Amino acid sequence: MATTSTDTETTAKDKMPNAAGEPEQGLVELNITDPHFMATAYETYDALREQGPVARVKFSTGGQETEETNTPRDRLFNSTAYFVTDYDDVVATLLDDRLAVDPRTLMTPEERAQAPEPPEEFRPLARSLLNIDPPDHTRIRKLVQPSFTGRGMDAMRPSIQRIVDALLDRAEQEADARGEEAPNRSMELIEALAYPFPVAVISDMLGIPREDRPQIRGWTQNLLRVDRAGDPEAQEEVRAGLRDFTAYLTELFARKRQSPTDDMISRMVHITEDDDVLTEEEMLATVFLMYIAGHVTTVNLVGNGVVALLSHPEQLAKMQADPTLARNMVEETLRYWGPVDFIARRLAKEDLEIAGTPIARGGHVAVGLASANRDPGRFADPDAFDVTREEANRHVAFGRGIHVCLGAPLARVEGQVAFETLMRRYPDLRLAVPADEIAWGGSFLRGFRQVPLLF
Ligand code: HEM
Repeated sequence: MATTSTDTETTAKDKMPNAAGEPEQGLVELNITDPHFMATAYETYDALREQGPVARVKFSTGGQETEETNTPRDRLFNSTAYFVTDYDDVVATLLDDRLAVDPRTLMTPEERAQAPEPPEEFRPLARSLLNIDPPDHTRIRKLVQPSFTGRGMDAMRPSIQRIVDALLDRAEQEADARGEEAPNRSMELIEALAYPFPVAVISDMLGIPREDRPQIRGWTQNLLRVDRAGDPEAQEEVRAGLRDFTAYLTELFARKRQSPTDDMISRMVHITEDDDVLTEEEMLATVFLMYIAGHVTTVNLVGNGVVALLSHPEQLAKMQADPTLARNMVEETLRYWGPVDFIARRLAKEDLEIAGTPIARGGHVAVGLASANRDPGRFADPDAFDVTREEANRHVAFGRGIHVCLGAPLARVEGQVAFETLMRRYPDLRLAVPADEIAWGGSFLRGFRQVPLLF
């Protein structure tokens, strides 16, 4: 969306130097900081997929990387990778237990002992579910999974509805205060609803007391800056923020141990399954990950779905005629404009082949979720947005395999409530600017910076 530029010169280069300094034939650079990257990404994925199921790529951050920084972001994005682009091989790759997420899994015990440790404040993040392999992953996932069942999430529907309604009430009051009247009131969707909504839901689910919410707001925002911590000045601030949030949570864990309430933190501090317990660091890791993995992704689900719907009038008419389509609209949004374009890194634990491409032990594999979701071999007319599409829910927007999104049942309910409520409350909802003026944000997460609406 946004720009219609087809200029991919800056995002795709055919010849890149390899480790030996020689150009590697066919290596494609995907510069995720290029403002056109997201706007043209589906064309890029189509072109790569047509050449074969596995491409050689370098996801770059546009030359911002430096030798010294070596942040998690640099390690993820500034190295070459085998990029899997077609649906069947994406699924097979995500299910393949010869691939790891943690570089330490490939090390000998001696190498591991000598590997540099991240700064202490970052340790819980470095050891969160997303970044660890079995057996630790299996153990921790089993302990936190019960908090995320579909039935449990359905039970949260009324409180999710209250949060959406309260945010929309406020948007209405603000429009009133500006003297605007329906159906020409204005609202910027991301700021008014999409951004604050998932933080409130996650805080409810974890059991962060209401009176503490203003205090934690800065810390949750700080968490989202972690991947930019290469900048030394930002890094000190991020570390200080993490220290404060850690101190707050440690104290909250103690309070919940004393007097449990019906929430996820209380359950975590009291877990005793087969005498298995979560360590303090594992609980911190889980809380941090909820905010990191569950926030921007859900912001983007809401923003992307609303823009997709309002820029396809025939689909909007279907939703208005039958609001129960909100459930399928969530699935189609995840397929059509899923919030996570690709999973940047898996590591080959041994020499292996993916779709006939040999990959040596230690090789990086990236997994193209957005590409798979537009694979014409899997979805008929894949570039059409169709809220009634059968099998829309076969998308891979939540990943697959052992790391499949833990929050998927929650994200689904959040999306359903947001879309259904917007349709019900605002029959005249529409974009305030032409769709092609709404710009994608610059990140590997697919989402709009701002979505101006009239209602
Ligand atoms: C539309 C919204 C969302 C999308 C598109 C999404 C997408 C994903 C994807 C693709 C993965 C797999 C990453 C990988 O394999 O490396 C993942 C993992 C994860 N997600 Fe989500 N997510 C969303 C919402 C949420 C929410 C709301 C939460 C929790 C509050 C959450 C928590 C997690 C966790 C904890 C993991 C790691 C699971 C593991 O490694 O075992 N996500 N998510």
